Amino acid sequence: MANTEDLFKKVIAHAKEYGFVFQSSEIYDGLSAVYDYAQNGSELKKNIRDYWWKSMVQMHENIVGIDSAIFMHPTVWKASGHVDAFNDPMIDNKDSKKRYRADVLIEDYISKLESKIEKEVTKAAKRFGDSFDKAQFLETNPRVIANRDKIEKIKSVLYPAMDNDDMAAIKSLIENAGIVCPISGSKNWTEVRQFNLMFSTQMGSTAEGANEIFLRPETAQGIFVNYLNVQKTGRMKIPFGIAQTGKAFRNEIVARQFIFRMREFEQMEMQFFVRPGEEMKWYDYWKEQRMNWHTSLGIPADKFRFHDHEKLAHYANAAADIEFKFPMGFKELEGIHSRTDFDLSAHEEHSGKKLRYHDPEINESYVPYVVETSIGLDRMFLAILSNSYTEEQIEEGNTRVVMKLPPVLAPYKAAIFPLTKKDGLPEKGREIMEKLKMDYMCFYEEKDAIGKRYRRHDAIGTPYCVTVDHQTLEDNTVTIRERDSMKQERISIDEISGVISQRLKG
Ligand code: GAP
Repeated sequence: MANTEDLFKKVIAHAKEYGFVFQSSEIYDGLSAVYDYAQNGSELKKNIRDYWWKSMVQMHENIVGIDSAIFMHPTVWKASGHVDAFNDPMIDNKDSKKRYRADVLIEDYISKLESKIEKEVTKAAKRFGDSFDKAQFLETNPRVIANRDKIEKIKSVLYPAMDNDDMAAIKSLIENAGIVCPISGSKNWTEVRQFNLMFSTQMGSTAEGANEIFLRPETAQGIFVNYLNVQKTGRMKIPFGIAQTGKAFRNEIVARQFIFRMREFEQMEMQFFVRPGEEMKWYDYWKEQRMNWHTSLGIPADKFRFHDHEKLAHYANAAADIEFKFPMGFKELEGIHSRTDFDLSAHEEHSGKKLRYHDPEINESYVPYVVETSIGLDRMFLAILSNSYTEEQIEEGNTRVVMKLPPVLAPYKAAIFPLTKKDGLPEKGREIMEKLKMDYMCFYEEKDAIGKRYRRHDAIGTPYCVTVDHQTLEDNTVTIRERDSMKQERISIDEISGVISQRLKG
């Protein structure tokens, strides 16, 4: 398999060539960090969303789903803290004219120092062999100590500066560390400025009466403001959850890496309302549940890891990311946050409405605490796509690209091919298609040699290809070819649906 940078390029090219993802408005040269899902991509995306919904809502009797509007009352975003605090510090390089997130420049610098420490350890481990004592080495090696001290010093300035909006301190860190622009190589930086990530627009028929409103930067607030309505109308008892999927918008300063960081994206979020004091139990529960969900798709467990946050957002008392090994390295895929009663209390305060729960078991009223699970659908799409992309040598000098998608997520579950275009084979193929398409997304194709048709469906991840040949007309059997093993079996037409359904359950 190609190196990781090559792999990423190949996945992006494949996504376009095989109708998964297109750049938005491509005929106008595209729009930065905005993408469209094409015919196969929209099926894959829908299947990921359905798989999430099924496991979160259908499988949990105490979780219900909603679909709230993208536009919300502007005060929602004041209460949630997004108007005042949903900012990233940005800095421009005057020579390259490139814009960066100032905190990311510093964090990248910290990562460099950390890899220097790792390199020292690897070198020493080689030199000392079995007698190497890593703990002692880390405590005593002067270069390691110097770099660790540097990291600690930077962190001790960076985190408070971020909390206190101290842009001058962040700029000094960049200058003192001698960080250069990766494009121009120069240290010719502007001042650091705060940049709010919310998109705003006007609502109202006249400019005078217009009200500034925001495109939601997360779906979670639609859940918080509906908490009481859902609790009362659904007669929900704590602990219970509300889930939703939908678009979110962020004016990201640095939006790159294909669909990993976009300005318009989709989230799948669930807020779990619990009794105060029990949030850590549920936080641990949801961390485990969500990791199990990822591995249930058959992706190797070593491609995931937890990253527990050291620095917590002002509303959280615990937070972790589930990171996935994307082609560009381990990166955040999902967040699990214990958000305390921050959001509901803030909405109580700003709306003047009580958002409480009367707990009959302890005969007390309280503002529930919330544990949230929040995953980006597009990031999950990228994780699935890059994990499934496989180049295989199938025979001497012959390779195939196969998307080893989990069958439950594949855009098409089966492709139906008459071996030739004559002798009544297409009619028989159509008959099978008509039957199967009631239950599964299927694809019917007569054009090109059978081998070419197999390759096309390998490339979009179709788990089964069903071929109708002359024997079919005699005994109602077909060959069914399994995507990954390429093994073919002869089965009766009546068995096709059972084979597919068995595989989807697996
Ligand atoms: N309600 C909590 C929340 O929104 P977040 O960590 O900001 O938390 C949750 O976002 C998830 O949304 C992330 O783990 C990521 O998968 C996805 N996400 C965030 N920003 C994104 C972007 N610009 N493009 C694509 N996905 C994004």
